[in-house]
Amino acid sequence: MAKRSTGKVRAKKAAGTTVARKIAARPAAKTKRAAGGAAKAPAAPPRPTELREWQALARHKAKVEKLHLRKLFADDPQRGKKMVLEAGDLYFDFSKNRLTTETLKLLYALAERAKVRDGIRAMFAGEKINLTEDRAVLHVALRAPRNAKIVVDGENVVPAVHAVLDRMAAFAERVRSGAWQGHTGKRIKNVVNVGIGGSDLGPAMAYDALRQFSRRDMQFRFVSNVDGTDFVEAVHDFDPEETLFIISSKTFTTLETLTNAHSAREWALAKLKDEKAVAKHFVAVSTNAKEVAKFGIDTANMFEFWDWVGGRYSYDSAIGLSLMLAIGGDAFRDMLAGFRAMDEHFRTAPPEKNLPMTLGLIGLWYDDFFGAETVAVLPYSQYLDRLSAYIEQLDMESNGKSTDRHGRPITGYQTGPIVWGTPGTNGQHAYYQLIHQGTKMIPADFIGFAKPNNDLGRHHDLLMANFFAQTEALAFGKTSEEVAKEGVAAFQVPHRTFRGNHPTNTILVKRELTPHVLGQLIALYEHKVFTQGWIWQINSFDQWGVELGKVLAQRIVPQLESPDAPKLDHDSSTNTLIRRYRKLRRG
Ligand code: F6P
Repeated sequence: MAKRSTGKVRAKKAAGTTVARKIAARPAAKTKRAAGGAAKAPAAPPRPTELREWQALARHKAKVEKLHLRKLFADDPQRGKKMVLEAGDLYFDFSKNRLTTETLKLLYALAERAKVRDGIRAMFAGEKINLTEDRAVLHVALRAPRNAKIVVDGENVVPAVHAVLDRMAAFAERVRSGAWQGHTGKRIKNVVNVGIGGSDLGPAMAYDALRQFSRRDMQFRFVSNVDGTDFVEAVHDFDPEETLFIISSKTFTTLETLTNAHSAREWALAKLKDEKAVAKHFVAVSTNAKEVAKFGIDTANMFEFWDWVGGRYSYDSAIGLSLMLAIGGDAFRDMLAGFRAMDEHFRTAPPEKNLPMTLGLIGLWYDDFFGAETVAVLPYSQYLDRLSAYIEQLDMESNGKSTDRHGRPITGYQTGPIVWGTPGTNGQHAYYQLIHQGTKMIPADFIGFAKPNNDLGRHHDLLMANFFAQTEALAFGKTSEEVAKEGVAAFQVPHRTFRGNHPTNTILVKRELTPHVLGQLIALYEHKVFTQGWIWQINSFDQWGVELGKVLAQRIVPQLESPDAPKLDHDSSTNTLIRRYRKLRRG
C-alpha cells in the first residue's frame, strides 16, 4: 500500500501569508492582466548563483583555495580564539576551516541577500513555507513555552501542544509507576516503538543518547525495518503480558510500520488470546485518528500531533513517547527547553553571532564553492552512536532536492550534502585514513564533551585527546620535510606525509551529555539545514523523492506473492531478477 499518493496531499492554492506568498510567486499565481489583455508573468526571482554576493564568493574562492590552514594560523595567532561562537552549552570553533574573515563577511552577506532572517521569521510565525504541501513548518512550536502564541489557520497551536505533552507525561507516569497494567495485570516492563524514518530515528537516537537518564529496569526497543528479523529479534526475549507497543506513524499508512504493527498484534494476541488486550498493550502516535481506529487501537490511547510537524522534525512531539517513557516527563521537558534555547538563539542572534547560520554557511561554502560532496558528523560520545543516522534523514531528506521553490530545475549549484559518520574513536581505526590522505574533500563536524557521562579512569581524557588530535592533524598535516627529519626512509616519505588543510568544525559541549544539551544539538542541526535550504531556494520540508520507489514496490508485491502472478512488464533486468527470485524463493 502506498503511504501517500500524490493526490492525498492537497497542495491547495498558494499560501496566504507574506513570505510564503512571495516565494510561491509562480508566474500563474501572480499574473497581471496587461493593458491589451495578455498575461504578463512576473520576472522569476534570481537564482542563488545570479546573486552578486554568490558571484563575489566564487571570485573570492579563487583567492583562498590555495591558502593552507598552516598559513592562516601562522598569519593570525589569535585565529583560534577569534573564530568561535557560543550559544547555550555549545562552544563552536570554526577556525580550522578554509576561510578568512573576508570569506565570512561574504557568506553573511549572502545570507542577508537571500533573506534567511525573513525565512526564520516566517517559519516561527507559522507561515506556510512548505509550499508543495501547503503547510506551516512549526517544529519550533513543539517546544514553545506554555504562554507562547503561534497561530496557524486562525488557531493558536501552543495550548494543543502542551495538552498533548501533559497527556504523554501522565501516561508515562502511569506506565513507569506500574499503575498502567497489562491485560493480565502485570506491570509493563518492555516498550517497543514501531515506526520508521522520522517516527523511528529520532526516538531511537535520543533513547540511546539519554540511556543514562532512562529507567534501567525497563527495556526499550525500536522496530522499523519490514525485514521480519527486526521484529522477531526485538521481541524474542519479551513476554507479551509485560510488553507495550507504541505504533508511531504520522500518516498511519506506512507499509513497513503497519506490517510490523500487525505482526506485533498477532504476536501479542497469540499469548493474550483476547482482542480486548489490544487496548492495554497498544497505543498510537499519529495525525490520523481514522486509520488508528481502523487498526483497532482505541483513539483514547492515541497521542496526537499535527501536519505542520515534518516526520524528521518530530521526535520532540508525541513521536517521542517511547523516549518519555524511558526518561520521564521532567527530563523530556528539559530536552525541550534545550531545543528552545537554540531556537531562540537562531531566531534572535545576528548572522555573525548565529551558530546554526554560521554552521550552515560554512557547509554551503564547501558544498557549492569547493564541490564537496559529503559532510561527516563525528561525535566523540558513545551515547551519540545513532546521531549521524538521525542527521542523515534530517539533512538529506530535507535538502536532497533538485527543483527549487519556484519549480525550476536546479542547475549550476549543489544542494544538500551526503551526511555520514560514526562515533570517534572507532572511525579513526577505519575510514579516517581516507579523510586524512584520500583525494576527496571531506568537511567534518567534531562533537565532544568537556565532562564525561561515565568518569572511568583515564577514559575521557584519552577520548578527548583523540578528539583534539584529529582536528589538529587534519588541519596542519605533516610535511615531507617533517617526515624526512624523523629519519623515515626516503621511499616512505610521500606515503607518510599528510597534506593537511582538511576543514573541520569543533563543537565542544561545555558539560556532559544531558537532555538539555541533546535538545540544543538537534535544534542546531535543524536550523543549519533550514539556513542552507533557504539559500538554495528549495523546500526543505517535503519529500516527494521517496514516493516513486514506494509506488513501484506496490506494483511488485502481487508479482511476488500471488500464485497467478500478473504478467511482468518491467525492464529486462527487473523482470529477470523477479523471475529468478520467485524461483529461488519457492525452490
Ligand atoms: O518515506 C519517508 C517518510 O515519509 C518520512 O518522511 C517519514 O519520517 C517516514 O516516511 C515515516 O512516515 P510516517 O510517520 O507517516 O509513518
